[in-house]
Amino acid sequence: PKLPPEVFHLVPFFGSAASFGNDPLAFFDSCRRKYGDCFTFVLLGRKMTVCVGPKGSNLVLGGKLSEVSAEEAYTHLTTPVFGQGVVFDCPNHRFMEQKRFIKFGLSQENLQAYVGMISEEVANFLNYDAQFTAFREKDATSWSPFHVLRTTSEMTILTASRTLQGKEVRSHIDSQTFSRRYADLDGGFKPINVMFPDLPLPSYRRRDRAQKAMSDFYVGILRNRQAEKGEQEHDMIASLMGQAYKDGTPLSERDIAHMLIALLMAGQHTSSATSSWILLRVAENPEVGERLYNEQVEHFRNADGSWRPLTYDELKKLPVLDSVIRETLRLHPPIHSIFRKVMSDIAVPPTLFAPSEDKTYIIPKGHFVMASPAASQIDPLIWTDPLKWNPARWADAAGAAAKYYSTYYDAGEKVDFGFGVVSKGTESPYQPFGAGRHRCIGEQFAYLQIGTILATLVRNIEMKLTHPFPEPNYHTMVTLPKEPCNIMYRRRSE
Ligand code: HEM
Repeated sequence: PKLPPEVFHLVPFFGSAASFGNDPLAFFDSCRRKYGDCFTFVLLGRKMTVCVGPKGSNLVLGGKLSEVSAEEAYTHLTTPVFGQGVVFDCPNHRFMEQKRFIKFGLSQENLQAYVGMISEEVANFLNYDAQFTAFREKDATSWSPFHVLRTTSEMTILTASRTLQGKEVRSHIDSQTFSRRYADLDGGFKPINVMFPDLPLPSYRRRDRAQKAMSDFYVGILRNRQAEKGEQEHDMIASLMGQAYKDGTPLSERDIAHMLIALLMAGQHTSSATSSWILLRVAENPEVGERLYNEQVEHFRNADGSWRPLTYDELKKLPVLDSVIRETLRLHPPIHSIFRKVMSDIAVPPTLFAPSEDKTYIIPKGHFVMASPAASQIDPLIWTDPLKWNPARWADAAGAAAKYYSTYYDAGEKVDFGFGVVSKGTESPYQPFGAGRHRCIGEQFAYLQIGTILATLVRNIEMKLTHPFPEPNYHTMVTLPKEPCNIMYRRRSE
């Protein structure tokens, strides 16, 4: 057994930081052609072993707890922002229980209650945001711009706070204190914080102050609710209050506060980035905008021209809407790579990445392993015309059983692997929400939030792009569109 091949680099310590940071997918692709599907590169002194393709994702995302650890990889980033005692600042079995409590808060009943709230927030936004003056003036002839990222970030935080976070958070969203705290926390949730958890910089101090203030803010809400004993809310706070771990320890006020911060951060950038890419793709392809609109008309328009409200059950059964979200997450997943710290040597079986015995690799303890679902999702060995945004590719049974043909590279040579199925498993070539024990629990909520935002927008406006489709920016926590990213809209004539 030997170590995986190491990517050549000129500058020690720094390693391949620039190539990886600027365009991780192009970097993975070129390394894969040279070194095969398993290779190591140096990133600011760390050894990152990339395992490309569905087999690689399986190795990383399906890895044993004794071999790979997410908390060791992420805690430096997340604990100062979320707070102590939750997520990656507790033993994994604790976090798994916390995920169960959160799932409980994402019940069918709660999700059903959210649809109306989300469409109301989006409709309100169109009725007061300065970018939508032409909409309010009922001008259905001229086109006006809106800034995509700014718009989707606001819509995401407004809708998440109105639903998951609860009415107290929603009522503070517009306050300067809350926005400043949120901005300070967010300023400490950047790629630099992964590499350097603590630096004597003002942004780190602001992050720490904001964490404390945010935690106190949530604890205050909990105490008020306990004192008031008002009517049962459908939000996450109500679901988490009164929960206890299996060993009988109750979920403390701080645990709940920190879980709410974690949910705010986990859902905000991922959902707003996805909504941005979706709106940009729809604007780039106005015929898809029309298909989305017609789908709304068919399902929700009354004979007198008024709209019937969206419902959760119906929203799940709209094939055009569903395929637009699904396809955008394939081509523009917000998270491009997922990593874990290696806790004990991992033997890569010879048949996994290469057929020959001399390719049996050991990924040693102390390395990080990295999977890239984003790379698998545009792999030409798997998908037809992979870089084309084509929602129709999901037409057969909404993609649930879409076949892919899996092949892998062995040091530049193509090796056929056989047929597979797009599934929720760790070996699927489609994993925008990850897979395995750390899989996202926000998927249903995200589909609901994004779907409702999109449906509400296409009912009201037409969209088009007047500049080239934006390139991805990989320097941020989630992959965002580079500037310019404006969409031209026009009010739909009644
Ligand atoms: C985990 C993506 C929205 C909460 C993950 C992971 C991915 C992901 C790829 C796996 C990370 C890993 O294995 O290291 C997304 C995308 C979203 C989205 C693409 C939207 C389009 C949300 C929302 C919430 C949320 C709205 C909360 C309501 C979580 C949580 C985890 C997670 C709690 C678990 C982390 C773990 O177990 O380590 N998400 N997410 N996500 N996500 Fe999401």
